[in-house]
Amino acid sequence: MSRILYDFGSGRSNPETFPVKALQDAAVSVIEREREALNDYPGKLGYLPLREAMAKRESDREGVPVDPGHLMITNGSMQAVTLVAEALQNAPGDTCIVEEFSYPGTLAAYRSLKLDMVGIPLSEEGMKLDVLEQTLERLSTENRLPKFIYTITTYQNPTGMTMPAARRRELIGLARQFNVPLVEDNCYGDVHYEGPVEPAIYALDDDPQHIYLCSLSKILAPGLRLGYVLAQPPMLEKLMDRRHDAGSNTLAAAIVAEFYRNGIWEHTNSGNEALKAKRDLTLSLLASELSDQCVWSHPVGGLFIWVRIPDDINGKTLLETANSRGFHYLPGISFHYQNAKVPYLRLAFGHLKKEQIEAGIPILAQCIREARTSNEPRNFDSLF
Ligand SMILES: Cc1ncc(COP(=O)(O)O)c(C=O)c1O
Repeated sequence: MSRILYDFGSGRSNPETFPVKALQDAAVSVIEREREALNDYPGKLGYLPLREAMAKRESDREGVPVDPGHLMITNGSMQAVTLVAEALQNAPGDTCIVEEFSYPGTLAAYRSLKLDMVGIPLSEEGMKLDVLEQTLERLSTENRLPKFIYTITTYQNPTGMTMPAARRRELIGLARQFNVPLVEDNCYGDVHYEGPVEPAIYALDDDPQHIYLCSLSKILAPGLRLGYVLAQPPMLEKLMDRRHDAGSNTLAAAIVAEFYRNGIWEHTNSGNEALKAKRDLTLSLLASELSDQCVWSHPVGGLFIWVRIPDDINGKTLLETANSRGFHYLPGISFHYQNAKVPYLRLAFGHLKKEQIEAGIPILAQCIREARTSNEPRNFDSLF
């Protein structure tokens, strides 16, 4: 592979707004102040001041009280994604529901746990609930109701779609009707650009089966490896029982809690402003370069644009050609719950420089044109 100069592959936060000095200052003060905590094991729930800061983050966004005692710090939200499945699964072959296109890390973890994933197609408003209902009915008659429903409701990875509140309520209704826990992954929830902020499932319904996951990777930095689960007992205890890693890194947690001592919003909002400019630039270049060939999402938050490409393109050849010209993206197949070859690709714009976006998108456009086997314009108008 030649050198990648335009890496639209991975969903990383904005390097320009990484707060070096503020984190340095926070580190100096917490190493001194927290020497006792640092010389001890953190316990399963983790460092309390970070749990308090994240409970405040949640209740500020959702407008409902959030108990730091119900929040467990994890090694990135990826640990929580895995832990939840381990706790809810009884045996290999158990069923779980995922979106047809989902986060590859989740899909890989669930494959390795030998969960039988059933994918639900997506629309512009997230999971199609009529299909979900039929699927739950079918699974119920087959006596293999899913152990849980995993959903990325807000700025979904990879499609960027957000489920409106009304559909969330319907989803809650179905989960209750079939008595299946809902696992909401809100990894991108605070990477918000415009429009209303849709409520989290736990803010709409107090069913103690719901599990909520969130992260610091997308608003601060993935290298911190900090995420969290929010769940009510006894579900929380069930998750804690599966945890055998002696807890999360207190030093990282203490630095971040100190950095956020006045809340997360000032830094998050400035990061979002920079990210929004990159989203706008990517969208405007797609419009000028590719409107006759492709259709794509217009996400109001998150780090991804989901692009539908013409059916006559060989996905493998397109990726190889793009890579040979220094452009990288993740192909649709990476996100499909059964690794199906689907005519999509995902562009992640968050960590790129403006100049890389400006130079990169025309390269992708040229590769797409060359990969076509016909000269016809696209024969579809919608993303799904
Ligand atoms: C939907 C989703 N969930 C979870 C994760 C895991 O993130 P982390 O472990 O860095 O918190 C990611 C990372 O990209 C993601 O996209």
